[in-house]
Amino acid sequence: MVHMDIDAEKKYFFEALCLFHEMQWLHNVPVTEILTRRSLDAIPKGWTEQLEILKNEELNNFAMGKTIKAEWPDSLKAYLSRCKEINRLPLVPVLSSVELPKNFRTGLSQKKQHEIMHLANLVHEQCTPHNIQTIIDLGAGLGYVCQMLHHLYDYRVVGLEENEENVNKACARQQKLYPESLTRVKYIHCKVTCDSTDTIESILRREFPDATETCLIGLHACGDLSISASRIFCKIKSVKLFILISCCYHKLSVSKSVRIPLQEKQYFHNFPTSDCLREVIALHDFDTGQFLRAPFFRLACQESAEKWRDMTEEKHVEHSFHVLARAVLELYSKQSRYPGITRYIVRILRIS
Ligand SMILES: C[S@@+](CC[C@H](N)C(=O)[O-])C[C@H]1O[C@@H](n2cnc3c(N)ncnc32)[C@H](O)[C@@H]1O
Repeated sequence: MVHMDIDAEKKYFFEALCLFHEMQWLHNVPVTEILTRRSLDAIPKGWTEQLEILKNEELNNFAMGKTIKAEWPDSLKAYLSRCKEINRLPLVPVLSSVELPKNFRTGLSQKKQHEIMHLANLVHEQCTPHNIQTIIDLGAGLGYVCQMLHHLYDYRVVGLEENEENVNKACARQQKLYPESLTRVKYIHCKVTCDSTDTIESILRREFPDATETCLIGLHACGDLSISASRIFCKIKSVKLFILISCCYHKLSVSKSVRIPLQEKQYFHNFPTSDCLREVIALHDFDTGQFLRAPFFRLACQESAEKWRDMTEEKHVEHSFHVLARAVLELYSKQSRYPGITRYIVRILRIS
């Protein structure tokens, strides 16, 4: 039975790798380089002809895998059906929209408030049956979740953060807005790695000596931090629960990069983490450094296709303008006598 499952997993990974390898013209180029690398020319002509004439609603449904037309080229239909087969994303649950209490809202978008509130609720729901009262937040940022867990449910929280400026800001916010939490929410400057187990245990002993059972959390834990968090969860005895929302897979640290014509092969320290996937890659001799690079991993941080459901025509125009404007500037920068200046503009556009 176990063998059956492993075989099914291997087959799944093999099919996914074949698809990503074949379709790399679609995802192996940074969006800013779609003109310099002539990615638009790589789209099969028959696809463009059909996709260009879709009505707005049809286009949205296409992104969600719901529009397929009989007259489309077989290659496009086959691509869509292979995408459907390898898609294992769970359906996005419909959650009620929530707002943070008034003095926690300042400067936070609706999206951020939604994330903080729902994560705090989830943590509480999971910790209550185990009577866990202490939380360790990895990559605490400015401490929004830490403060909310304390405010709503009176948890004791240690927020670990590698960026000292963030730690200082979190402490300053706490002093100013939530001074009553000073003894129960602690912000500590700490770069978390796979080897941070002893450090975290000693911080915990120092800040909350009587904590016997804890919950490890991470909201938007970027790149390697998610991997470190998973390993730490397996090693610290007091940690009974682990709640992680990973993020920014393209920030995984590169272990080796090799320059080849037009691009750079990239191999990562923490990819793949699955033994099964590693085996399949080796067995079929896939060179992942060539087609599973940062632009591919960046896609994993995209919002779900559901976001397209009600996208208006104006939004599409705005979106495509931004994508193309950045690509045009990149093209200009490659051809210009003043590439430095143009790169600066591209950076501003990236931030905006
Ligand atoms: C995307 S932010 C999320 C911040 C916060 N969890 C939130 O959702 O508001 C990721 C944070 O993790 C921190 N971080 C990244 N790698 C880290 C590491 N190895 N150790 C500690 N903090 C880290 C970053 O400095 C950043 O503040």
